[in-house]
Amino acid sequence: MSDLSKTPRTVPRASATFDEYTLSEIRRAAATGIYDIRGAGAKRKLPHFDDLLFLGASISRYPLEGYREKCSTEVVLGTRFAKKPITLKIPITIAGMSFGSLSANAKEALGRGASAMGTSTTTGDGGMTQEERQSSQILVYQYLPSRYGMNPDDLRKADAIEIVVGQGAKPGGGGMLLGQKITERVAAMRTLPVGIDQRSACRHPDWTGPDDLEIKIEELREITDWEKPIYVKVGAARPYYDTALAVKSGADVVVVDGMQGGTAATQEVFIENVGIPTLAAVRQAAQALQDLGMHRKVQLIVSGGIRNGADVAKALALGADAVAIGTAALVALGDNDPHWEAEYQALGTTAGAYDDWHEGRDPAGITTQDPALSARLDPVAAGRRLANYLAVLTLECQTIARACGKSHVHNLEPEDLVALTIEAAAMARVPLAGTDWIPGVTGRF
Ligand SMILES: Cc1cc2nc3c(=O)[nH]c(=O)nc-3n(C[C@H](O)[C@H](O)[C@H](O)COP(=O)(O)O)c2cc1C
Repeated sequence: MSDLSKTPRTVPRASATFDEYTLSEIRRAAATGIYDIRGAGAKRKLPHFDDLLFLGASISRYPLEGYREKCSTEVVLGTRFAKKPITLKIPITIAGMSFGSLSANAKEALGRGASAMGTSTTTGDGGMTQEERQSSQILVYQYLPSRYGMNPDDLRKADAIEIVVGQGAKPGGGGMLLGQKITERVAAMRTLPVGIDQRSACRHPDWTGPDDLEIKIEELREITDWEKPIYVKVGAARPYYDTALAVKSGADVVVVDGMQGGTAATQEVFIENVGIPTLAAVRQAAQALQDLGMHRKVQLIVSGGIRNGADVAKALALGADAVAIGTAALVALGDNDPHWEAEYQALGTTAGAYDDWHEGRDPAGITTQDPALSARLDPVAAGRRLANYLAVLTLECQTIARACGKSHVHNLEPEDLVALTIEAAAMARVPLAGTDWIPGVTGRF
């Protein structure tokens, strides 16, 4: 009898549970005793917009002619209570990213690119910079738990206000800005000491629930003479109830940020394990608005992992009025560009995987406060790249909308979609491709 236990293995077998990355993380934790902090969003594979497909027109549906028939993209935000709602020419806005996490040149470039396309940018933790106000035709001012840089004069200078309850990368968590990025200018804006790590609050200091939020919203309306639309931004965890509570509290716009959403810096364990995917969040948020009879009256902005015009079109079809982008906008500016590969290698990473944004050593000059690195980013050229990218997203979204026979991108609807996986079908509440089956909704194959 042969001894099979002595047969040599020809291919070493790696464990799916203890894969190479997991092993390296265990070793790193053992060597340092420090948890990992990084930027960007969840990197694991999650159900996402890629798991949905548009049906397109056929005999039963009539498509629109690409070059001759209009497909509008305009979005009006803040029609519920604000005296001065804002109009975006495209259904894509730039998400809030703080000065501090980003260089002043990067903030200016975001403003230039967005303004060229008739859309808005958003401040972030740490207040408003002059550069971004000057370069942004439409600027949304974030009102965050930290209150860093919070200034009533800047509130009045903004075109809309976004109350941040949470972010998709870290629902329930606060901000982090490590000492390396706290320069004199950043410190002065936040009234913090230079060079000392800063962790900002995870909840607002003066309210604990929806009743207090209602009072806060009214206070902000009074300060701004009821002119500015007021958004409420939540990280996607319980989007149905959070959306309903934001509406009850008097929000004009609800922003729901899914777990693929980027962050400037958070614990890796948080980014990968807290919150729900954007795909699951958008449908629940839209459902809450529909159940309250407020769909399209209170506008819904969705963010977290939006990369191309198909993602935009899918988010709109599931009920969003607009999307917001963070990470993709940074990539358009030049973040993670292979041009800097030698320098990424020197930092122990590679273009496309660089996420140590908290360290402030970004070769592309975007997630840094280092004057020499920041100077590498030309805000005019980077703004132009962002404008080009936003134009492509819009054209792609319009192409799909026309193919589905829609004369406005808001006429896209769940009926235009099918899912490739049972998970995506259940989350987005659209049928599995080739069937009439929506798991949890219809019982039929
Ligand atoms: C560099 C960076 C800084 C950010 N800073 C803030 C912030 O100050 N306030 C906030 O509400 N969200 C912040 N976010 C989250 C974005 O507003 C947005 O929710 C997220 O980036 C959307 O997901 P995406 O990056 O996949 O497009 C930040 C994100 C990044 C990438």
